[in-house]
Amino acid sequence: MTVLPYKDKESGKKQQVADMFNNISHKYDFLNHLLSLGIDIRWRKKAIKLLKEIQPKQILDIATGTGDFAIEALKLNPDHVTGVDISEGMLNVGREKLKKRKLDDKISLTLGDSENLPFEDNKFDAIIVAFGVRNFENLEKGLAEMFRVLRPGGKVVVLEFSKPKSFPFKQLFNFYFKNILPTLGKTISKDNAAYTYLPESVRSFPDGKDFTSILDKLGFKDTVCKPLTLGISSIYTGIK
Ligand SMILES: C[S@@+](CC[C@H](N)C(=O)[O-])C[C@H]1O[C@@H](n2cnc3c(N)ncnc32)[C@H](O)[C@@H]1O
Repeated sequence: MTVLPYKDKESGKKQQVADMFNNISHKYDFLNHLLSLGIDIRWRKKAIKLLKEIQPKQILDIATGTGDFAIEALKLNPDHVTGVDISEGMLNVGREKLKKRKLDDKISLTLGDSENLPFEDNKFDAIIVAFGVRNFENLEKGLAEMFRVLRPGGKVVVLEFSKPKSFPFKQLFNFYFKNILPTLGKTISKDNAAYTYLPESVRSFPDGKDFTSILDKLGFKDTVCKPLTLGISSIYTGIK
């Protein structure tokens, strides 16, 4: 079953997700760091390090949002990072950030749908996506598009929430994720749905082996799942 942010609206998931991120764009970075106690920053760093060995020159950051993962990818010293996202609001916050940090010649942010990428086949050395795939309307279509624009031998790195499994951490985390986080998120973002949608979408999203087997099915090789922080998030990698 598709998990939607706004259950009383008739628009499809893609439109609702774009509306939701447009609504919360100005509070997104602040809430991210607050609600994760800054751990999201460490997770992005870890994920980007997994690309060091292939020294990618052209990197595509899917669902780039306000650009934090794209900025972290500059540590790999690429020629260029392209970020795509369906939310103009998130991209605008990202563009301001890049301008302030004088990074706008290294990173370009473009409005675009991950399920229909505006790039030719085999263009990128690496494709990265942080907390994006869970929001796709059609997961397999989005992942297949990533495979198409990645060059043979290129690497995909996906960072996404997963479900902690071990007692009692699982129970403690679930209490926080389902009760405290939505209340804090709603109060600060003023969006009624965004931080209720977050735990709901994580619950119904494939993680661990379930996710790597989708990557396998789509043609990625040597797929690996690396759980982070007792399984709150995971990094998935694969090679084309
Ligand atoms: C949770 S944010 C993640 C942003 C950023 N990657 C980060 O690490 O903070 C998810 C982003 O995915 C974008 N998104 C969702 N579906 C998308 C799609 N089909 N194509 C492109 N972007 C999409 C949303 O607009 C949103 O900006």
